[in-house]
Amino acid sequence: MQIPEHKIEEIRQSINIVDVISPFVQLRKRGRNYLGLCPFHTEKTPSFTVSEEKQIFHCFGCHTGGNVFKFLMEYEKISFVEAVQELAAQAGIALEADEWKTEKQSEQEVLYDINTEAARYFLNNLLNTAEGEIAAAYFRKRNIKLQTMRAFGLGYALNGWDKFVEFAKEKRIDLDKALQLGLIIKGNDGRLHDRFSSRIIFPIFSPNGRVVAFAGRLMEEREGSAKYLNSPESSVYHKGSILYGLSHAKDEIRKLDKAILVEGYMDLISLYQSGVKNAVAVSGTALTEEQIQLLSRYTKNVVLLFDADTAGIKASMRSIELLLKKEMEIKIVSLPSGEDPDSFVNKFGREKFEELIKHAENFLEYQTEYFQSQGLFDDPAKAAEAIRDLVKPAALISDELKRNLLIKSIAKKFNLREMLLEAELEKILKATVKTADAENKRISEAREIRQSHAIDKNIPPEIYNLEKELIKLLLEGSNEVNQFIMQHLDPEEFCQESHRKLIEIINKNIRENSKVIAGSLIDKIQDENLKAYILEITFEKYSISKNWEEIYPGPSREKVLLKYAVDTVRKFKIMQIEQQLADNLKKMENSTKEESESLMLKKMELEKQRRKIKEEMEYRD
Ligand code: CTP
Ligand code: MN
Repeated sequence: MQIPEHKIEEIRQSINIVDVISPFVQLRKRGRNYLGLCPFHTEKTPSFTVSEEKQIFHCFGCHTGGNVFKFLMEYEKISFVEAVQELAAQAGIALEADEWKTEKQSEQEVLYDINTEAARYFLNNLLNTAEGEIAAAYFRKRNIKLQTMRAFGLGYALNGWDKFVEFAKEKRIDLDKALQLGLIIKGNDGRLHDRFSSRIIFPIFSPNGRVVAFAGRLMEEREGSAKYLNSPESSVYHKGSILYGLSHAKDEIRKLDKAILVEGYMDLISLYQSGVKNAVAVSGTALTEEQIQLLSRYTKNVVLLFDADTAGIKASMRSIELLLKKEMEIKIVSLPSGEDPDSFVNKFGREKFEELIKHAENFLEYQTEYFQSQGLFDDPAKAAEAIRDLVKPAALISDELKRNLLIKSIAKKFNLREMLLEAELEKILKATVKTADAENKRISEAREIRQSHAIDKNIPPEIYNLEKELIKLLLEGSNEVNQFIMQHLDPEEFCQESHRKLIEIINKNIRENSKVIAGSLIDKIQDENLKAYILEITFEKYSISKNWEEIYPGPSREKVLLKYAVDTVRKFKIMQIEQQLADNLKKMENSTKEESESLMLKKMELEKQRRKIKEEMEYRD
């Protein structure tokens, strides 16, 4: 799928990257840029930087960066086309379907389309076929309303071994792709058959609401068959990074600044139907870091609502550590034994459910209670172990005050010796500081590798730095500055190859567009290293350009920039000449008489040039 470039440019121009990012990341103005906590990795001090002027963002910690489209792609895990569509809608710019529909679709788009078609097929089976009535009756028995079935696109896979295969053939669906998606399976005999047969179907959605996979549930236990059958991983479905129901719940989660984490599909659906719309389901797997990262974009407050059985408790214990590591605020609700959220809300109603949520416990209380119920504190040998297990997650809380208060309250509530807990905490903290150091080292090493990749070591640093400043100036988006630099410098004069490449791209852009905006330029560059380089240098922490205004206090930014540009070009030219003079001198030292004469002339010529530049190249108001 290809959206015409002028459309993309139009969208970019009518959207401000700061407005797009602000709802997701709390940004504070710092000098010319905005700064916030990076949504793409866990950090405590902000290194996520957004430039409004250049319409790009960059994180110094994890090195994610790019323009507004890239941000949405990364943040919402969507394709470029989807990001463009979303921003077009925000900007009120119409994308004519025929402008791009006919173009060759990307591989992923085809897969999404097949899944959508399959979901419609399953829904149709459920609602409009005689056989589907069994499934509809099953849902009704479980108190699921028609409206809810539609909202979640629930469906039914007909009984038989090739019903879907037949449907796919009829609809001319690419069977290889359907195989990739796991909708159909190739048997040992080479024959194609359906994955899902006589099961109720739950489509699984991406955060953006696209169908990425399916789960099929048996309506009654069947010997030797799993209750749930899921699509395999595919290029559109990565199990560990999907939260079931997120596309339905994300707005409400943001609004309430709280998410309820449940285990099953049916839990989520029943809660939603009852009006509790800020829940998501982990659905069968242990909670992963990716899922937490995803959720943390919408809220930092999570209520864990896992089944009260031992497996449920174990799962929540594991989840707690991961959640704490990602700086989430955790509360835990234990349900009456034998209930899951689905059965609870159906039996007792929404109000009782909200009541439970309101009285959620903090995680330490929950864990301690559990240990106590297991009698762990009665046996001194087991108690030591239990206390270690208790304190371990507490050590993950970075806020010292909060951590200490928690420890105190636990000690008091459960009659444990505070000193004991504190000593244990101290030990664990020491160990974690070490791992944090290792992590920081790893990140800074990664950065060095990246930078060294782009920089040619043979170029003297003074030259490299001046070249870099010139590139930065070109990216400041001032026409006057760019004209000046282009007039006085030839791309060939730059020593660093990446600089030459960039100048060529910028040159071309100036000819076509006149105005150079980093956020637009970046889409025209194929080379990933070069893209990363632009981001690195424009957001460099220690840079001369950061102080431009201080060095040249003056009325307008344009003038300041131009003066700086003139100075930099001048320095660069002089340095080039001085380099040549130095070379010349070396040659003179061991030259014949004849040679020495011409070298002398060369020297004078160079000196003249240098004088000329010194005298003439000066910024005048
Ligand atoms: N699950 C799975 N495969 C299984 C069993 C469970 O993937 N064989 C996942 C499903 O996502 C399921 C969740 O684990 O929703 C919780 O399992 P369970 O509590 O057994 O199912 P419920 O969702 O409660 O379904 P139901 O109420 O219909 O029994
Ligand atoms: Mn259930």
